[in-house]
Amino acid sequence: MKTEIQKPNRKTYKLAAKLIGDGQVVAFPTETVYGLGASALNRDAVKKIFEAKGRPQDNPLIVHLAKKKDIKKYVKNMSKTQKILVKTFMPGPISIIFDKNDKICSEVCAGGNTVAIRIPESKVARKFIAYTKCPICAPSANTSKRPSPTIAQHVFDDMNTKIPLIIDGGATDIGIESTVVRCDGNNVYILRPGKISKEMIAKKCNLVAIDKIDTSKIPQSPGTKYTHYKPACDMIIVKTDVINNINKLYQNAINENKKPIIFCKQQDQKYFADKNTIVLGKDSEQASTNLFGYLRQYENNDLIIAEYFDNGEMVEALFNRMIKSASGNIV
Ligand code: TXA
Ligand code: MG
Repeated sequence: MKTEIQKPNRKTYKLAAKLIGDGQVVAFPTETVYGLGASALNRDAVKKIFEAKGRPQDNPLIVHLAKKKDIKKYVKNMSKTQKILVKTFMPGPISIIFDKNDKICSEVCAGGNTVAIRIPESKVARKFIAYTKCPICAPSANTSKRPSPTIAQHVFDDMNTKIPLIIDGGATDIGIESTVVRCDGNNVYILRPGKISKEMIAKKCNLVAIDKIDTSKIPQSPGTKYTHYKPACDMIIVKTDVINNINKLYQNAINENKKPIIFCKQQDQKYFADKNTIVLGKDSEQASTNLFGYLRQYENNDLIIAEYFDNGEMVEALFNRMIKSASGNIV
């Protein structure tokens, strides 16, 4: 199959809608990362997503909608807390879990009774969904385990010949995936941290942050148990005695004839002036925007030594992705 990359315009949206109607898979940009979309009402189309990604069948997909008023078509009921979350944060980088009704096919939800719903802030994403007139289930558009795609070229690198169309909306703004939340009565649990932070949620609802609860007692996001975002080379995060440890790790790698690269804060680049260094950003927001792209771009080194970001509003979300990319390696 030939994979086209097309800029978002009326012709592209019409083609995308035709492909979705025919049960095909189309990649599209959102404000977080690129998604791999199909009609959530068409079993065979949903199966194509799992095949194209090489994704385990027990990992459910998020259903993307264009408008808030569409949510009630696919969920059984909406609690007061869910209503507050929808009103406050949608459209935006959040996915809220609801009890599902029978319209969304079971493959989307990995056979479970719940469905995660997201209304992207991205106008291109919402236009694409509106043109299809379907609820669009979509995971991130990477091959399973690879860093999520933040430009159309990343999607092409992973999906070439597997899907007919990528809508190229340019680089995504946030760079890491949506916050996934689940409600239980008045309590809100964060299953995956993202740009919508626990502080933002706590201002509106009774938040029970995931790190404060016994995770063995509540159903988790199945996706959290799999290896994620791994670059082709080794990676380590440096959180303690940062400057010294980064320099030490770098020198050790050189002594072993390896090619290391440092991902650092803009403010700290001066400490590594004579070394192979890439600035991830000045704070956790900027670093989030760049992380996945740089993981793909610099994985031809032998070792990525990444500085921990303790500043900005996405500290937790960024760390969650970095520690997974590094397979838990941290000093
Ligand atoms: O920003 C995003 O959320 C992107 C863009 C494309 O919208 N999508 C995305 O999808 O990251 P994916 O499939 O890569 O990650 C979805 C996560 C997984 O960890 C999955 O297990 C969890 O959400 N999830 C989906 N439906 C769920 C459900 N019903 N219950 C619990 N977790 C769910
Ligand atoms: Mg993903």
